Amino acid sequence: MTIPDIIIAIDGYSSTGKSSFAKKIARKFNFLYLDSGALYRGVTLFAQEEGFINRLAEINRALKDALAQLDLHFGAEGKLYMGPRCIEQQIRSMEVSAQVSPIAAVPYVRAWVDEKLREFGKKGRIVMDGRDIGTAVFPNAQLKIFMTASEQVRAQRRYDELVAKGENPLLEEVVKNLRERDYIDSHRETNPLRRAEDAFELDNSEMTFEEELAWVQGLIQGKFGIL
Ligand code: CDP
Repeated sequence: MTIPDIIIAIDGYSSTGKSSFAKKIARKFNFLYLDSGALYRGVTLFAQEEGFINRLAEINRALKDALAQLDLHFGAEGKLYMGPRCIEQQIRSMEVSAQVSPIAAVPYVRAWVDEKLREFGKKGRIVMDGRDIGTAVFPNAQLKIFMTASEQVRAQRRYDELVAKGENPLLEEVVKNLRERDYIDSHRETNPLRRAEDAFELDNSEMTFEEELAWVQGLIQGKFGIL
């Protein structure tokens, strides 16, 4: 199936499987996959390492100026780099997860990330996942999907992911982190997480990847009149 050069925006709560789904779509239809959350995580790691954020997640105002020097980019296999250093592993840690939502609520951080995302979007034929892609970054995206899944399923997925990466998390901590991030992400002032009116909702609590792909393929065929 060949599909046009559209932008596919995927938003939703934490650990709903957005990035795995987006990667599958990218592979299947030969699209470029972009993970907007990775950039927020990269800024958080930078702020932690450079001392712009303390243990209470208080953010030093000097971070705004420092962002001008920050080089975050996607390298081979879509992994995130800070300058020459691959930071993919570190940005997925619980330490970064614990502080990313307050950082992502800061308007100048969002503006910095948005500028990068829109630059990528100029190329077209991309699938991007996040919290505000269909509502704010690409409100004109031709296909918008809003993903949900039960809390139990989401927590177990994230827990398994962390264990597979060699971390030793407590399931309660993972649940607490998901709840906190969802709360902050949906209640912040600038571009909060919400379903765009024209987004199709996908609850994948009990779906396999194959079923998800069949669902999106049907959606694309229907929407763009492809046989
Ligand atoms: O853990 P998960 O993969 O679901 O989250 P992520 O996509 O890596 O995003 C990490 C955090 O970045 C979110 O909890 C939000 O606080 C923030 N984020 C955002 O505010 N807007 C986006 N478009 C993407 C992520």
